[in-house]
Amino acid sequence: DIHFIEIPKISDPDGRGNLSVIEKNILPYKVERIYYLYDVPSDSTRGGHAHIQLQQSLIALSGSFDVVVDDGKNRTILTLNKPNKALYIPKGIWRELENFSSGAVCLAIVSDIYKEEDYIRDYQDFLNSKS
Ligand code: TYD
Repeated sequence: DIHFIEIPKISDPDGRGNLSVIEKNILPYKVERIYYLYDVPSDSTRGGHAHIQLQQSLIALSGSFDVVVDDGKNRTILTLNKPNKALYIPKGIWRELENFSSGAVCLAIVSDIYKEEDYIRDYQDFLNSKS
């Protein structure tokens, strides 16, 4: 299920800021790859695909953006704007990333190496895969 994962935050007692740490056991899969999106114009959409097997977690390391998630029946828009909250997206979910704020950085922590054959990039193909 799509859900938020709270990332532990260590606030410095002397006001030197925050530190968040992602230990491998807080994610429900083995991490194989990390990538990040940045310098995304506010009128651009990223994503626009589903994965057959890949699972991933998205974090707004800086700034904010919206994630549209769609399981083929319901479509929900979630705003990511906290560096200590990860959005877990299981396999078989259509996602679109939009409304990037200036300076937004989207970190993706994913369960597999890059395989184009794991992508469904056509929405109708995605719906067909659900029926
Ligand atoms: P794409 O999946 O279209 O980006 P998004 O869904 O975020 O809009 O990827 C953009 C390009 O980058 C595409 O040519 C594939 C390439 N790419 C890699 O080579 N390795 C990777 O790990 C990723 C995520 C993308």
